[in-house]
Amino acid sequence: MTVPLAERYRDRLPLAPGVDVVTLGEGSTPLLPAPRLSERIGAEVWLKWEGGNPTGSFKDRGMTVAVTQALADGAHSVVCASTGNTAASAAAYAARAGLEAVILQPEGAVARGKLAQARAVGAKIETRANFEEALEEAKALEAGGTHVLVNSLNPLRLQGQKTAAFEIAEDLDRVPDVLALPYGGGGNLCAYALGFREIGSLPRFVAAQAENRAGTAASAIRILEPAHESEVESALAESGGEAVSMTDDAILSAWRLLAQEEGLFCEPSSAAGLAAFLADPPKDARAVCVITGHGLKDPDAVA
Ligand code: F0G
Repeated sequence: MTVPLAERYRDRLPLAPGVDVVTLGEGSTPLLPAPRLSERIGAEVWLKWEGGNPTGSFKDRGMTVAVTQALADGAHSVVCASTGNTAASAAAYAARAGLEAVILQPEGAVARGKLAQARAVGAKIETRANFEEALEEAKALEAGGTHVLVNSLNPLRLQGQKTAAFEIAEDLDRVPDVLALPYGGGGNLCAYALGFREIGSLPRFVAAQAENRAGTAASAIRILEPAHESEVESALAESGGEAVSMTDDAILSAWRLLAQEEGLFCEPSSAAGLAAFLADPPKDARAVCVITGHGLKDPDAVA
């Protein structure tokens, strides 16, 4: 049986001893070698397959910790703004914990699979004009004291997500030279930075954002104002890394390549880190690309 990450890394997470962990079996995801892509790119490329989490994205790592604490604190309801994956995860963990989940999502911008996931587990779903508006309202609900915010502004989300850095370092027996991942709000990059700092050294981070943040086909990262922008900038500077902007064409061709050369079907935004590697191959020996979400979340992208 998979050991939940809150048990596996209990000593490195800020959860009270004896607290009942709300889990669906998240974490311990595969780190897959990518021989064809490695040859093409000219570096040793590894894929951290976060689509292998219970709701199909990395969000589950943070949600188990945030919802565990919310339940322990006696909350009745959690709230998030989301392009879909945070929503699917919050909704599932809330259902598991017996809590209400309120989802505020951008109009017409959530992939079909993600919507089905949140609906299936009984979340209350409302629509707003864009992600920024949804987030402001979610923050206001938390400020009112009735709901616990489970966006990545909740520090427990990042605490849970940092465990992916631990897993990668354990699997490789060292910290990789470079780590590339999609950059939406920037919470995940901050979480990796937290985890690798705890281990003692940072890989060079490559944060791949959509060139057209407002209208990218990679709907998960359609975020105009990254909530963690300043922390992302410091982590990039500290690691000698950079933020790069990818066109939709580059993201989609990396997405196709990943499916057709390595058999890994992810959602389009999840291939942004790989797109950055293809555009500017890392000279470093060991490169990890974080594949953040499952392809089944966005079946329409295939057509
Ligand atoms: N990849 C996927 C599949 C995502 O869903 C997200 C963010 C990211 C990458 C970017 O991560 O925001 O921490 O930089 N999804 C959020 C959501 C916005 O609402 O599900 P980030």
